[in-house]
Amino acid sequence: MKTLSVFVLIVLLWSCTQQTTTQPSATTTAITSTVQPYKPGLGEIMSVIQMHHAKLWFAGINENWKLADYEIKEIKENFQTAKDFETDRKETGDLPMIDGSIDSVLAAVQQKNLPAFKNSFQSLTNTCNSCHRSVNFEFNVVSIPTAPPVTNQEFKLK
Ligand code: HEC
Repeated sequence: MKTLSVFVLIVLLWSCTQQTTTQPSATTTAITSTVQPYKPGLGEIMSVIQMHHAKLWFAGINENWKLADYEIKEIKENFQTAKDFETDRKETGDLPMIDGSIDSVLAAVQQKNLPAFKNSFQSLTNTCNSCHRSVNFEFNVVSIPTAPPVTNQEFKLK
């Protein structure tokens, strides 16, 4: 009798663990079958690039080279995201035109060369606009920012 009740207890416990392990996986299946994976739009990616472009300028002119290095790499990563995700947009084919000017800014940053940074940043900005013109978004004109894009980040290190 004692053996039987131990056996019953084991079976009960086993069935409890079965329930808790099967329930979440059933829920997961329901979620994955209804929710589409998030895909950022080209305009959204460009707005992120715009923010990094502005931060890059203030990092560079304040000779905060580590931050400038970080910002130019963020720009590079976001252009890569655009290449990877926006395969259905014909404009994506023109993206490689920006690669050379990104590399020039990166080189100036790594050499901690302020005049070269300013020149290469201007060329980068001109290339953003050349692409906008060539893909008929000429009304989106990017310029060198005149004020920091945010007030809650230090661009000049003390
Ligand atoms: C393929 C060439 C191309 C290059 C290179 C490019 N852009 Fe764009 N950009 C576009 C296109 C296309 C759009 C419009 C996207 C949309 O909304 O569909 C756009 C839109 C924008 C917008 C408008 C976003 C908004 O909502 O107001 C900004 C800002 C922008 N780009 C910044 C930049 C900056 C900064 C660079 C350079 C560092 C750059 N772009 C380089 C093609 C390019």
